[in-house]
Amino acid sequence: MKLFVYHTPERTPEHEVPDCAIAVDALRATTTMATALASGAEAIEVFADLDALQAAAAHYPATQILKAAERGGSKVEGFDLGNSPFDYTVETVAGKRILMSTTNGTRALQRIQAAPLVLAAAAINLEAVVKVLTREQPEIIWIVGAGWQGSYALEDTVCAGAIAQELKSHCEWGNDETVAALALYEQWQDHLEGLFCLSSHGQRLLRLNCREDIAYCARRSIVEAVPRQISPGVLAL
Ligand code: MLT
Repeated sequence: MKLFVYHTPERTPEHEVPDCAIAVDALRATTTMATALASGAEAIEVFADLDALQAAAAHYPATQILKAAERGGSKVEGFDLGNSPFDYTVETVAGKRILMSTTNGTRALQRIQAAPLVLAAAAINLEAVVKVLTREQPEIIWIVGAGWQGSYALEDTVCAGAIAQELKSHCEWGNDETVAALALYEQWQDHLEGLFCLSSHGQRLLRLNCREDIAYCARRSIVEAVPRQISPGVLAL
């Protein structure tokens, strides 16, 4: 296996498709997706655009779906759910298909959807993601941070570094970003929550009173659920 880390979807090579691509949006989209599937959601369908989400929703019976949308960290008015993992309880999401659009996370997933194996990773499902990789041994792996509107996000890169550390003895490093991500993780591994709070999106979430969300997103390997693309833009277990 050879591991390449990209800090944002925009930094991925344009005309290449890896054997496996992993989207990381630790605060909070991929954390929320893993939580939703762990709570029994049937699948998550991702949209970069709210109009496309609404148009797709019209094709489902209303009882079968929940519409989730976040912009700038806040729930979009008129949608059933925002992007807090605490909204995705068993009572709310079990058996439902979640149609979801977030500022950056769903865009990252759309960027990598041509890969034969697409996963969504976060700190909360770290070990489970590593298990999938060691079992399936894809040759070329991209870990793609969602970032924030095209810019670097500390929390995504540190999670990429956590995956790199777990794979250390099974993988070659493909680019300098992988080594940098690993160094960031090694520096902060005992203070992940502190780093998340320091990050610019962490600061935004603190201003939105989402302290508990950050604490949850910084926990490691607490769920087994690994969102995996089953058809373009649709993730399930
Ligand atoms: C995103 O997609 O940018 C996010 O997950 C933002 C958030 O809701 O925290």
